Amino acid sequence: MNGCKISKREPKGLLISNAYSITVKNVKKEEVVKRYSRVFPKAARVSYAPIVGVKAKNAKVWDVEGREYIDFLADAAVQNVGHNNERVVNAILDQTKNLIHFTFIYGFPVEPLLLAEKLREISPIENAKIDLGLSGSDANDGAIKFARAYTKRRTILSYLKSYYGATYGAMSVTGLDFEVRSIVGELSDIHYIPYPDCYRCPFGKEPKNCHFECIDFLKAKFEGEVYADGVAALFAEPIQGDAGMVVPPEDYFKRLKRILDEHGILLVVDEVQSGLGRTGKWFAIEHFDVVPDIITLAKPLGGGLPISAIIGRDEIMDSLPTIGHTFTLSGNPVASRAALAVIEEIEEKELLKRAEKLGNYTLKRLNDMKEEYELIGDVRGIGLMIGVDLVKNRENKDRAFEEAKKVVWRAYELGLILAFLHGNVLRIEPPLTIEDDVLEDGLNRLENAIKDVQEGKVGDEALKHVQGW
Ligand SMILES: Cc1ncc(COP(=O)(O)O)c(C=O)c1O
Repeated sequence: MNGCKISKREPKGLLISNAYSITVKNVKKEEVVKRYSRVFPKAARVSYAPIVGVKAKNAKVWDVEGREYIDFLADAAVQNVGHNNERVVNAILDQTKNLIHFTFIYGFPVEPLLLAEKLREISPIENAKIDLGLSGSDANDGAIKFARAYTKRRTILSYLKSYYGATYGAMSVTGLDFEVRSIVGELSDIHYIPYPDCYRCPFGKEPKNCHFECIDFLKAKFEGEVYADGVAALFAEPIQGDAGMVVPPEDYFKRLKRILDEHGILLVVDEVQSGLGRTGKWFAIEHFDVVPDIITLAKPLGGGLPISAIIGRDEIMDSLPTIGHTFTLSGNPVASRAALAVIEEIEEKELLKRAEKLGNYTLKRLNDMKEEYELIGDVRGIGLMIGVDLVKNRENKDRAFEEAKKVVWRAYELGLILAFLHGNVLRIEPPLTIEDDVLEDGLNRLENAIKDVQEGKVGDEALKHVQGW
């Protein structure tokens, strides 16, 4: 055999790579999981179920033992146009034959140019300029720099429970997990406000007696704690994904933008999870009738290849000096071609309409399940960005952490890839291209998993397997 054996000490299965192929023969998932923990640090991962995926097509994934799964996670909202989409695969194959990389920092490869022009065309921001990067995290880091450079102000506002990524800047504006930064340090001048969560209102209100206390909170913050005219930007997810798919009330962003405009504060919208058709529009912020100053994009943009974009008003994007925010592999031609194919697929297959249609259907099915199962406290979302909030008790809305783990485990046993956010909110984000019958099949498996957990048929053993966050 012409290849190099990855580990000589593991004679059980055959896991071999060479320049032409990877051979995976008689490999048990337990073996791969064990080898993972030997080489990858815990900081790099969070695991839900031991699925060693070796092949995928549209909304289906096959594991190393030949088991088939329906993917309701779409690879963490990456596969909007489906796993191994034919148009994306062809674009990648075609591009790799001619030019894998020619850095757009020094040269003028045409692929990132065509991508940037296309992003400018679909963006709600007029006369946008686009910077390209590699991940949602670096896009958000760049957005911090552009906002600070343009406004010549330092302070950034962000939301509690938000997630913007793992690089220093993105981590520093993230409002979800403060443990890591307490160890490693963070950017200064960041302030947080509560997100408008109508199911678990931080001000104890219900939609019927809400007077936008969250907006009043911001005003009070400006009066007592933060100098408003010194704020560069507010970072917002149009739907707070990792907080558990929290959808703001319709009028929220309009009210917010009025206040930001009064003080010259930029609105930076993170569309890393919600963008590129997931909610039935190119950008989720379009549901709220507000035009932001900067948008960040990543996850689904490259159809699985690493690429991100910062889209901003031209004068904002011209505010950093030469090489102020760029990476050697930014605008990689193969990733750019993949991204162009993703956008073309969304346009040609009319996936915005499809996301809306399938989203409405899925919301209806989930709401029907809510009637049936006490465990479901709330169902919310737009398009195919949906959360199912599991509670111990509908009255006090205590989060059902253990039950969420059990549902994810039972789903795995039933052949459904599922995850949860904030410990208890099931994440329903299948590819926008999922076939009608596969969606139906997946929803049936989900319902069975919820039913089995509610009826006490899933033992505590599941809790040992599922980590999640
Ligand atoms: C809303 C949002 N922003 C940013 C990120 C970070 O993106 P990446 O993991 O590509 O750096 C994520 C990832 O989960 C996200 O959901």
